[in-house]
Amino acid sequence: MPQLAERMSRLGTETAFDVLARANAMAARGRDIINLGIGQPDFKTPPHIVDAAAKALRDGHHGYTPARGIPELRGAVAADIRLRRGVEVDPDQVLIVPGGKVTMFFAILMFGEPGAEILYPNPGFPIYESAICFSGAAPVPIPLYDATGFSFDAEEVLDRVTDRTRLIILNSPANPTGGVVPRAELDKLAAGLEARPQVAVLSDEIYARLLYDGREHVSLLGYEELRDRVILLDGWSKTYAMTGWRLGYGVWPKALVDAAERLAINCHSCVNAAAQFAGIAALEGPQDAVDEMVAAFDRRRRVIVSELNQIAGFRCVEPGGAFYAFPNIEGTGLDAGSLQDRLLDEAGVATVAGTSFGRQGEGYLRFSYANSTENIREAMRRVRACL
Ligand SMILES: Cc1ncc(COP(=O)(O)O)c(C=O)c1O
Repeated sequence: MPQLAERMSRLGTETAFDVLARANAMAARGRDIINLGIGQPDFKTPPHIVDAAAKALRDGHHGYTPARGIPELRGAVAADIRLRRGVEVDPDQVLIVPGGKVTMFFAILMFGEPGAEILYPNPGFPIYESAICFSGAAPVPIPLYDATGFSFDAEEVLDRVTDRTRLIILNSPANPTGGVVPRAELDKLAAGLEARPQVAVLSDEIYARLLYDGREHVSLLGYEELRDRVILLDGWSKTYAMTGWRLGYGVWPKALVDAAERLAINCHSCVNAAAQFAGIAALEGPQDAVDEMVAAFDRRRRVIVSELNQIAGFRCVEPGGAFYAFPNIEGTGLDAGSLQDRLLDEAGVATVAGTSFGRQGEGYLRFSYANSTENIREAMRRVRACL
């Protein structure tokens, strides 16, 4: 039996992929499954983006690219950050990576080691806790509550910072809750962190463009006082319906970007050229497809929240961003895992148990509304019938 490294026993996973595999297997056996489990837009990548990738391949862009990403794409990212976040960044601070996740993994590996502590949202994207444990650092959850719309209390975050804290991970708009942190809380957090200069922040803003009811996106990169220790995570997956292209970026403080590039060279060398040319077309081309997608998500959001709140035992706060609803299901008398299994097996509706996003997720279920209104209504009818 090969002897694995001890740290492998500390590596978790993303159970949404398990649910997807189960749902797909059931569908392959002929079951009619409505998938509200997976976190990806149900739209196709806009054609002008696909064309740019095809052209790049036809033009002969088949070789390695610079480890940091092609200069045109890094420039386009810097311009996009100036346009949408009002912040000047040097294109040299941008590291293009294969997917949003990679920036997260690199930041956690860069700061995590035995003896260090890393704060992360709970319920939150499961890879945060998994990668923190893998690094040997101690995971310190920041509890999120539906009473505050799954935002956070800056005081509560700052109270958890110790001399051992190396990194705080924040995610707004959030997976799995759809929570959006208001500017006032970020102001308080930034002010509090001035007295704790040893703490870096990873700001996961992958859902920044998916905001509703006129909410503004407040980027942590906008805080001048934190500029030398904020790592911004964003990418193309959610905004441009490009989850399968594996394209993302990090904006790193000048003092950290060389180390991040070294991790990239050790790991994947560089990102394929065609995806990068697609990334330029996405940022610089027409944005109508994004606007239409956001408008569709917004319509579905209203439908699903209203329907969820009519299910006996469910209580759902309105998500302000992303494409997830995260109702409390304690009134059903079932735990999250049992309800997830029952809805999949008996109703043919795939969802993800809140516990997949951390211990604080018990009593909740994640519904992705990246599906048609018709399917959402039918899924809700099935859930009601099942319960
Ligand atoms: C909060 C959050 N961050 C990062 C990612 C990773 O995105 P990507 O698919 O681009 O790696 C996801 C994907 O679900 C996410 O929900």
